Amino acid sequence: MKKLIYFDNAATSFPKPPQVTEAMVHFMTEVGANPGRGGHALAKEAERIVQHTREGLTRLFNIPDPGRIVFTLNITESINTVLNGFLNEGDHIITTAMDHNAVLRPMKHLESKGMITTDIIPCDRQGFLDLDALKKALKRNTRLVIVNHASNVCGTLQDIAAVKNIIGDIPLLVDTAQTAGCYPIDVVRDGIDFLAFTGHKSLLGPQGTGGLYLREGLTLRPLKRGGTGTLSESLDQPDFLPDALESGTQNNVGIAGLGAGVDFILETGVETIMKHERELTALLIQGLREITGVTIYGPLDVTKQTSTVSITFDSLLPGGEDQSLGGCGSINLAWMEEGPLPSEAGGILNKNFDILVRAGLHCAPLAHKALGTFPEGTIRLSMGYFNTQEEVETVVKAVQRIVEGNI
Ligand code: ALA
Repeated sequence: MKKLIYFDNAATSFPKPPQVTEAMVHFMTEVGANPGRGGHALAKEAERIVQHTREGLTRLFNIPDPGRIVFTLNITESINTVLNGFLNEGDHIITTAMDHNAVLRPMKHLESKGMITTDIIPCDRQGFLDLDALKKALKRNTRLVIVNHASNVCGTLQDIAAVKNIIGDIPLLVDTAQTAGCYPIDVVRDGIDFLAFTGHKSLLGPQGTGGLYLREGLTLRPLKRGGTGTLSESLDQPDFLPDALESGTQNNVGIAGLGAGVDFILETGVETIMKHERELTALLIQGLREITGVTIYGPLDVTKQTSTVSITFDSLLPGGEDQSLGGCGSINLAWMEEGPLPSEAGGILNKNFDILVRAGLHCAPLAHKALGTFPEGTIRLSMGYFNTQEEVETVVKAVQRIVEGNI
């Protein structure tokens, strides 16, 4: 197979550690049963595997009780579970301009039905949340604040503890799609009331896995009701976790794989993963900065962002004598050569250089408005633990060649 450079880890991580595939194959070939249904040896083994994944996540996020974690299909389902299960008529909620459509769309839906009111707090050109504006937006009926821990467009990290400090007792839902597994998260230290996570990004699990942690004392109406393998004599949904929010057969093979991904992270260390990703990010930013003709978005500081970097190609004056300005002090715009649009550049990187990236709006239109890249969006270069410095150097050279028209 042709050697591809995968720089699309913000969409989903690839490759996965071999242990993840092995755990899934083991589940499919040696276990196969439905946890909590049956009570026989294989059902018990399936239950043990699911519990192992819950306990790994508990250690990773410093969650006091594994029973407060529920599994979902993805973070979109986790966020929908909170929005639909926590809010009541007349509530006000707050989110940020860097948040993803996974938050914005269900939130706007509830607003359009007249159920809730909303405020979206602006972010600056680097993607940082305006904390003063957050403070001013708080109302007597604010029931929930939702913050994207790190932008999926340009990697900007928000200061979660500072947000919690401002909002006090108002519950905080943190979208950790871009940070869980590659950045330290501690629900107690950071004051996180609801933690929504996805399994298939930096947690290194398969697609179709995700979850939600709810702090003790918080309850949610379930998004779906049904069989849980417990209290089967009752026609009412159990009110205890995780069963209250986990109806129907789960993606147990996926949860087995997710558990192996979490084990890999715990064995390797989040700090080690973050250090490697920071080294790659520093190298990428440094290389891109030296290229005239490219704009880089985000903090451009590895301590303030994840390993996701967005760029656009600028319009440039072509080289050569014909375009001498002759000291007239103005530029003839007719001479400017348009840089490729993000969608075109993404295609060129794929076809001409075997570099796989995501281009466009990345399901976060308001983030692009904050960064000034709406509506075309950006080319997103997103790295993971398995990328190498050599790959970064190859990507920088490819970007340079696109600027030069040398493709
Ligand atoms: N939300 C994911 C992304 O940023 C899929 O690509």
